[in-house]
Amino acid sequence: MIKNQWYVVLGSNEVKRKPVGVTRLNEKLVFYRDTKGKVHCLKDRCVHRGVSLSLGEVCGDDLICPFHGFEYDHTGKVKVIPAYGRNYQVPDRYKVVSYETYESHGYIFIYYGSRPDSEPSYFTDLEGFTYSEMSEVWSVHYSRAIENQLDVVHVPFVHHNTIGKGKKYVVDGPLIQWLDEEKFEFYVYNRIEDGTIAKKPSDMRPPDPEKDFRLAFKFPNLWQNYIDDKIRITAAFVPIDEDHTKIYLRFYQCFLKVPLLSVLVNELAMIFNRKVLHQDRRVVLSQVPKKSMLKMSDILIQGDLPILTYRKRRDQLLKLGENHEIQ
Ligand code: FES
Ligand SMILES: [Fe+2]
Repeated sequence: MIKNQWYVVLGSNEVKRKPVGVTRLNEKLVFYRDTKGKVHCLKDRCVHRGVSLSLGEVCGDDLICPFHGFEYDHTGKVKVIPAYGRNYQVPDRYKVVSYETYESHGYIFIYYGSRPDSEPSYFTDLEGFTYSEMSEVWSVHYSRAIENQLDVVHVPFVHHNTIGKGKKYVVDGPLIQWLDEEKFEFYVYNRIEDGTIAKKPSDMRPPDPEKDFRLAFKFPNLWQNYIDDKIRITAAFVPIDEDHTKIYLRFYQCFLKVPLLSVLVNELAMIFNRKVLHQDRRVVLSQVPKKSMLKMSDILIQGDLPILTYRKRRDQLLKLGENHEIQ
């Protein structure tokens, strides 16, 4: 897992006041809302004798362990050990790891590190859009699920009867542009075989973001497909553990503003998108090794440039966070 990053980990509607226990980023975590509705996240393991705090309850702004009643504040510190009496000064070592949380655009983010120096940012170009969402768990490492959405070569094969109609097997480029340290876009130029070989990225004309079909990836786990200026697909690839990923797929549009009608259209579009996603799932679940790394035995081709770009940056970020211990 890349450290010192804001990860989307849950949908806002999945966290209520009552504690909820989930595995994310290879750890058992508990989430709950305080009296103001702010979400908090602690390691789901009582410091006393290891019970799941998610079996407990929230009282005021604190989380109470169900076993012997230790009371935790949102930083993970034990404030009260009932067996000692409420006025006992609890030593600092009675503490579990807590993660900074942030909520926006219907998602809960956590900072997988010790101290964030900024808030997470979602895609800033979806103002005025409405969306429908589906989510499901795939039994793959999240790196493989992400790479599938960076794969521009598979579309005419895996999606030959949906989004990949037209036998556009030849892939020019693709062209990659970094927008900042965390986010890159790539332009997709699939075409029908005409006897010429695929153009190198260096031989291509400069891209036009207004007209050319493009996709974006934002580290560590967000993706957007710019179908056109009024229709987008996004995905959050939420790492559960080494073998499981929860995918939150959204269909966004801004061409319909009438409330009920837009809900209906968004839901109908999701039927199609679910079908497309399941075409992907069929192949991705069979990939080995389960986890992708920069140095592995895959032999990539030019069209895999977005995947290689992802692997290189991920490798750098993994190394940067290697010796960082999360407190
Ligand atoms: S195990 Fe939580 S208070 Fe004892
Ligand atoms: Fe696909």
